Amino acid sequence: MKWSIMVGVAALSLVGGKILAQPAAAPLDVRQIMQQHTNPATLAIWDVGNNAMGDEGGIDPALMDQEKWDRLAASATQLAEAGRAMGAGTSFIAAAADNSTVGEGEITMAQVQTHLDGDPAKFRELGEALAAHSDKLAAAARAKDAPAAGELIAAMDTVCEDCHARFWYPE
Ligand code: HEC
Repeated sequence: MKWSIMVGVAALSLVGGKILAQPAAAPLDVRQIMQQHTNPATLAIWDVGNNAMGDEGGIDPALMDQEKWDRLAASATQLAEAGRAMGAGTSFIAAAADNSTVGEGEITMAQVQTHLDGDPAKFRELGEALAAHSDKLAAAARAKDAPAAGELIAAMDTVCEDCHARFWYPE
């Protein structure tokens, strides 16, 4: 089984770089951080993981090299920064006014805004959970610990899903 994006959204192109520093009081744009940081970093992690997957799943260290471990560590660090930015947000907007379009039948950004306004503390907590998980993955990549890295990559979609199921498309 390939690790894949569970959110059903087309892959966005890889964008490097750090999250732009914002004044403390500026609301955090959730869609922007998903599109520009969280998703590209996750796609890069899955790319390394899928290309080094062993017969039994997990990561086969023989299929890894220094460049791949470095890429995994860098992407996990980028993902941790995105999680920390969400964890540190004082207020949140679902999306910018000029980036609020959704497909037919999809949850609107106005609905997402209602979810965010309902429990920002929980949102911060789930952002911190993403940061903690990603920090562990970055550490495993730096230590070239294939079993740990494989397990952390496999569990990543649950960390995404925990927040999406609550703040994006709750039942
Ligand atoms: C702390 C909460 C939270 C976490 C953790 C989280 N997301 Fe999201 N994500 C959201 C919310 C809220 C939305 C809905 C707003 C939107 O559609 O952009 C969203 C939307 C998205 C979208 C759709 C973006 C778009 O074009 O509208 C993608 C892709 C995505 N997330 C990827 C991920 C991935 C991959 C992870 C895990 C590595 C993740 N998210 C973790 C809150 C989170």
